[in-house]
Order: sequence, then C-alpha cells, then structure tokens
Amino acid sequence: MKMLVSGSARLQGQIVVSTSKNAILPILAASMLSSGTVIVRQIPLIRDVHIILALLHQMGLKVDHDQDRIAISGSPQHHVPDYELCRQIRASFLLMGPLLARCGQVQISLPGGCAIGTRPIDLHLKGFEALGASITMSGGCVNAAARRLTGTHVYLDFPSVGATENIMMAAALARGTTYIENAALEPEVVDLAGFINSMGGRVSSAGSNVIKVDGVSSLGGTTYTPIPDRIEAGTYMVAAAACGGDVLINNVIPEHIKATTAKLLESGAKIEEQADAVRVSRWQEIRPVYIKTLPYPGFPTDMQAQFMAYLCSARGSSIITESVFENRFMHVNQLLRMGAQIITEGRTAVVRGIPQLSGTTVKATDLRAGAALLIAAMAASGETIIEESEHIDRGYENIVSKLNHLGAKIYYL
Ligand code: UD1
Repeated sequence: MKMLVSGSARLQGQIVVSTSKNAILPILAASMLSSGTVIVRQIPLIRDVHIILALLHQMGLKVDHDQDRIAISGSPQHHVPDYELCRQIRASFLLMGPLLARCGQVQISLPGGCAIGTRPIDLHLKGFEALGASITMSGGCVNAAARRLTGTHVYLDFPSVGATENIMMAAALARGTTYIENAALEPEVVDLAGFINSMGGRVSSAGSNVIKVDGVSSLGGTTYTPIPDRIEAGTYMVAAAACGGDVLINNVIPEHIKATTAKLLESGAKIEEQADAVRVSRWQEIRPVYIKTLPYPGFPTDMQAQFMAYLCSARGSSIITESVFENRFMHVNQLLRMGAQIITEGRTAVVRGIPQLSGTTVKATDLRAGAALLIAAMAASGETIIEESEHIDRGYENIVSKLNHLGAKIYYL
C-alpha cells in the first residue's frame, strides 16, 4: 500500500484518540485465563488486534464482534497457536504465559513484528522457568510445559514490558505468590493488572518496580475498557507541533504523556492540559532539544522517530539517543531522502535542523518509522509518497481520516 501526502499542511480542530494498542493486545491474550465471558469495549480496529483475535479463534475460543465490543468465551482447546499468524506480530508471544497457565503446555513460534533490531525473549523464558516450566526450542518454536506453575521471585535484568506482562499472566493462575522484581512501570502493565483483577485475580503494586501476584485457582468473566493510546496521542501532538497548527486531542490521560509534553514544551510548542484532553499549538520556531529514550516514565522509544521528524526543522542541532532498542534508526535514511541533515553514531543521532523538508518517495520500514514519515511529509514542501504504508495502519486506527479531518491531505494510492 502507498499513501500520497500533500505537504505544508496546517492542522486545526479536534481529534479523538483510540484505545491503546499496547494495552489491548496483552488484555486479549489474558482473556484466555478466564473461565467466564470476557467483554472488552472500545476495541481499535487495527491489524494487530485482528491477528490476536484470529489466534484466539484458532485456539478454540468463541469470539463475537459487535461493532467496537468483543465478547470472548470458552477455553483454549489445544496448546499450539498458528505458526504463520504468530510470526506476523511480536505480541503473539504474549499468548505463551496464558496458555502455559491454562493448558500446562505451549508450543509457539518465535515472534515477528517490527524490524527494530534483535528483540530477544530470554527474560520471558527465564520467568517461566523460575515458575517451574521446562523449556526447549525446536524448528523456530519454543516449547514449554509445567503441570502447575508455582509462585516465586523473578528478577528481570531489564524492565521489559512484554516479559513483565507474560510472567504476570502466567503467575495469575500459579500456586502461591510471585514477585516480579525490576518490573516494567508502563501504564499498559498497570492496565493489564487491572484487567486480571477485574476477573478476580490478585495482582498488587503494578506500576511499581516490584509486582506481587497472588495466584488464584480460576478467573471469571468481566467487562473492561482499556486505557487510551498514549503513543497515538503523542504522535498527534507532535504532528500538530510539526505542522504549526492548533489541535485539541481528546481521550488522553495527561499523566501518561508527561515525557512527550515536557519535550514539546522545551521545543517551543504550547500545551494546555485538560482533565482528559490536551491542546497543542505552535506559533514560534522549533527549538532543538536533547532526547534519550528510557523505560517509562522516561521518554518513550515509541515516540523517538516522530520526534526526530519534527526536529528536522528545528533552528539548531538536536541530539537523540535510543537506549531501549539496539537498532531503531531505520527512519533516518528515509528522512535523509527528504533533505534532513542527520548523522548517526551507534545509538545516537545528531539532527541539524533545516528550514523545511522536501517531499519525495520514501518507505515505511516499521510502525513508528511510518508515523514519523507521515509527520515529515505533512510538514514538508511538495508531495510525498510513502510506500509500504500498511505498517502505519497496523497500529493507528483510521489515521488518515483523523488527520484529514484536521486539514491534512493524505490519500491511499
Ligand atoms: C513493548 C511495546 C513496544 C515498545 C516496547 C518498549 C507492546 C505490544 N509493544 O514491546 O511498542 O516499543 O515495549 O517500550 O507492548 N528484551 C530482552 N529480552 C527479553 C525481552 C526484551 O533483552 O526477553 C529487550 C529488548 O530487546 C529491548 C528491551 O528489552 O531492547 C525492551 O523490550 P520490551 O520492553 O520487552 O519491549 P516489548 O514488550 O517487545
């Protein structure tokens, strides 16, 4: 798929953020822990969600879709999620914890997803082993088995979001208490704990770096609405600032976007926080800033590419350091094609601002890199064609119609 974007856009008006992709994917995986009916409201209709739902269906669960509500019932009928579906998204690996807890065994493909450097799964496996599972690898698959998982202390060498979630889900049905130490603090982890507790689970202190999970023998049904997407909100905030507009972004939890807000303020944008909305405008030139990505509450790696696109037109040089992922500068080559002046050295990029980028043909290499190119293209002079734009639709619900509603001119080719 391709998108054609007319540049020099000015964004004005209101927009509503969808439910968080990174919250809903683990929540849908965790629905397999339930012996009752789980209803999840405000489902974003994006490809990653469709893939997880297809996997739940293939595992033998009943999935009923009613507009933006999903009802999931039944139990997993086997322990082997479809290899090809799993390979398409990294989040498929989040099925491992719930399946191990429910079926006592699992055979799952090594994960796929965004090409942003090697993304190992050693911390997930270390957690399952500590809970008593035996693990083997064969033919691109991980096999794990445990008659009943048993609570323990798991120390994570890095506060991995996925490992924290996977271990939390497995521990929810384990015998005894599990402590996840150096756990991820991300709001999506807290939301997953809230979801598990709404099914009758006993997870406490999620959002701190030691999460306590008291295992229960079974979990029941629930109706749950996950949190809004803080990365989608941040992307529209940066888009408004990059294009020099005035946009009210609704369905936002301001607490979750503090790092993005702080850096936008530093760069000269004006931000007005409301209870569940944020208004972003910019009338003055963009000031260069220093950014270092970190686990939450630090600056999110999922906002790094969009900020780089924005800072390409700052008055002066910005320095961006990516400390979460090994190789997450794929967007740099594409921004260079638009005239950006960026030098990278290892995990650091120096971005020397120029007055305006120029439209050309570029390629979206992954989800957030694609979002960055969309921001760059809206702010650039002339027209840009973004190839492989399906990466963008994987994670942003109706992004083209939302941005066009604000005055952008984006067309699917
Ligand atoms: C999640 C998000 C993703 C975000 C990332 C970091 C979802 C579906 N995706 O991904 O959008 O960019 O958090 O905020 O929620 N690591 C290991 N061993 C492991 C697991 C991770 O070394 O077993 C490393 C990774 O290679 C990476 C770092 O830890 O360098 C962070 O990864 P992690 O927090 O696990 O990210 P994901 O859960 O994959």
